[in-house]
Amino acid sequence: MLLPITQYGSPVLRTKCAPVTEVDDAIRTLADNMLETMYAANGIGLAAPQVDENIQLVVIHIPDDEEEGESEPMAMVNGELVPVKSIMPLVFINPVLEPYGKKEFFLEGCLSVHNIRANVARPTNVKATLTQLDGSVLEIDCGGLLARCLQHECDHLDGFLFVDRVSSAAKITLAKKLKRLAEQR
Ligand code: NI
Repeated sequence: MLLPITQYGSPVLRTKCAPVTEVDDAIRTLADNMLETMYAANGIGLAAPQVDENIQLVVIHIPDDEEEGESEPMAMVNGELVPVKSIMPLVFINPVLEPYGKKEFFLEGCLSVHNIRANVARPTNVKATLTQLDGSVLEIDCGGLLARCLQHECDHLDGFLFVDRVSSAAKITLAKKLKRLAEQR
């Protein structure tokens, strides 16, 4: 089932999400619906507050062809180097993230911030502990688009949006557009 995507200005996008304490059928159904909604919107990640749920649940699907360069994107997963595509889609709760490495700019967008893209500086790499819905845990160490996407999505769980992380000059440029978005929602 497709879910409405909450838009910039919605209070739920600014709240700190509660951990998921029990994975029941409602959570599993929500995760399925979030995946469907993300795919339909051509997104690569979606966090629960973006569908008006104030809980720590995220879905991610990094497409095969998204990264440039000849070599296939890889990630360390539970101590083993594997292709990023082999762990897609990711569906997880209560993530713990440890970004590291030097910060780089990358053009980000968000399904909850319509028609705005902006350069955001974030660390290039991430160590992440992700609990899947079956209770298994993925210890991931990665760079590239997956590291970027993990940071963007987990920001949502803390009530942060990518537009909070742009330079102060860019914030001034974006202010009018964002005000209009908040009024339109
Ligand atoms: Ni987003």
